[in-house]
Amino acid sequence: MPSVRFFLLVTLLAAIVLAVPTPTRRRGIQKRSFKVPRQLNTAHPTGPNGPAAMRKVFRKYNFKMSDDFMVKEGFISQSKQAESEKNTTSTAPVSGTNGTGTVAANPEENAALFLSPVDVGGQTLNLDFDSGSSDLWMFSTDLDPQLIGQHSVFDASKSTTFQKTTGAQWQISYGDGSGAAGTVGTDTVTIGGVTVTNQTVELANQVSQSFVQDTNTDGLVGLAFSSLNTVNDGTKKTPAKTFFDNVMGDLDMPVFTADLDPDGTGVYQFGAIDSTKFEGEMTWIPVKAETGFWQVSSTKFAVGDQLFSNPQGSDAIADTGTSLLLVDQQVAEAYYSQVEGAQLNAQVGGFIYPCAATLPDMSVAIGDSYMATIPGSQINFATVDQANTTCFGGVQGNQGAGLQIYGDIMFRAQLVAFNGGNQSLGFGQKPVPQ
Ligand SMILES: *[C@@H]1O[C@H](CO)[C@@H](O)[C@H](O)[C@H]1NC(C)=O
Ligand SMILES: *[C@@H]1O[C@H](CO)[C@@H](O)[C@H](O)[C@H]1NC(C)=O
Ligand SMILES: *[C@@H]1O[C@H](CO)[C@@H](O)[C@H](O)[C@H]1NC(C)=O
Ligand SMILES: *[C@@H]1O[C@H](CO)[C@@H](O)[C@H](O)[C@H]1NC(C)=O
Ligand SMILES: *[C@@H]1O[C@H](CO)[C@@H](O)[C@H](O)[C@H]1NC(C)=O
Repeated sequence: MPSVRFFLLVTLLAAIVLAVPTPTRRRGIQKRSFKVPRQLNTAHPTGPNGPAAMRKVFRKYNFKMSDDFMVKEGFISQSKQAESEKNTTSTAPVSGTNGTGTVAANPEENAALFLSPVDVGGQTLNLDFDSGSSDLWMFSTDLDPQLIGQHSVFDASKSTTFQKTTGAQWQISYGDGSGAAGTVGTDTVTIGGVTVTNQTVELANQVSQSFVQDTNTDGLVGLAFSSLNTVNDGTKKTPAKTFFDNVMGDLDMPVFTADLDPDGTGVYQFGAIDSTKFEGEMTWIPVKAETGFWQVSSTKFAVGDQLFSNPQGSDAIADTGTSLLLVDQQVAEAYYSQVEGAQLNAQVGGFIYPCAATLPDMSVAIGDSYMATIPGSQINFATVDQANTTCFGGVQGNQGAGLQIYGDIMFRAQLVAFNGGNQSLGFGQKPVPQ
């Protein structure tokens, strides 16, 4: 008898445990903030790779690696090299229909280092939360099985809540011809226990090789402004809304925060700001939302405690989908002029230095009222040689592209809140880990 009672008790407890943490709720009730973990992508082909991270951000924003610039800076012509690489592999353009097309690229270039679980129509996918784009897209069963490989894919036929949006398409394409494209629908999407019942979801039926090779990234959750969404349904209506735009009204605060640890893992929180994670008050800076990005001006910088004005002064984007802190070229030059043994290296494609060097702190202006400081101890990005004696910096130059991209290197040191309500960014300096 006791064993039966015990069994009943265990069953009852199990039922309670199962019932509590999965509050699949309808929109607009009860749950007002939630957290989503960001985990290291164990299938990432190489781990942190400086040159690949550099190529990824240049590709994402269609920045050109300028020949002139590279000659001046002592680069060999990497864009020519990229061009010839492109011609060595068969290429099916991303546009058009039903591609099993592959585009040349080093596999790791589009690889997301960090991923978070997302439930779409009852199917769990590992997606990369990207504040630098606005599409929620995923690998799907519309893809050729060879392209799917080990990916988790979304199977629309197995979702009872999926509805196809007839005639609509989406497409992300990069300057070098790589990208992804496919069809569109709506489905129930749950992130961190919060559900949106009519979320626009984008099913890939074409992906370029760089996405294929990254076997643990099943797609992206775009968290920039909805105006950048690529869904085209043949009308000129309002763009499809991002997940954040859809949940915003239901949250305690219309914000999400990126709290990323120095190792790049961490937490995205929607609806609340954890003020124990930073020192002092948060500083709020309005963004230029009309660009579609979380974009601010950034006309000053500091190396250590020496303040400079940035002669180019390009605007900057806060991008959780980029690894590096990509700054105007002169800013990177000024920074590495303070690092013993640093050089801009042609073969590697960026600034490198002896791993034993001491790196100064770097600060970049966020609007007119805030300087975001990244301690020198958090600026190293990766090693570039087997012996681990030469290092690739997390601060790199944009080669005159006219836009600065502030990625993970910044989020290691700053708690950043993305406020969709008044379209601003909140910054808080995190304590330096001992
Ligand atoms: C690559 O192919 C394009 C188009 O076919 C051609 O214009 C270009 O010159 C080629 N580049 C190289 C480096 O062969
Ligand atoms: C894709 O192409 C293959 C072969 O060309 C064809 O059999 C298949 O039906 C196509 N799939 C779609 C979704 O158009
Ligand atoms: C769901 O979204 C689609 C497109 O975004 C819209 O046309 C449709 O009316 C929505 N349906 C409901 C029930 O809200
Ligand atoms: C935006 O909202 C935050 C949080 O409510 C507030 O503290 C801040 O002052 C606002 N900032 C701007 C630029 O309106
Ligand atoms: C270099 O670093 C990697 C990764 O931390 C490590 O696996 C490897 O053993 C190191 N190599 C040497 C020679 O220390």
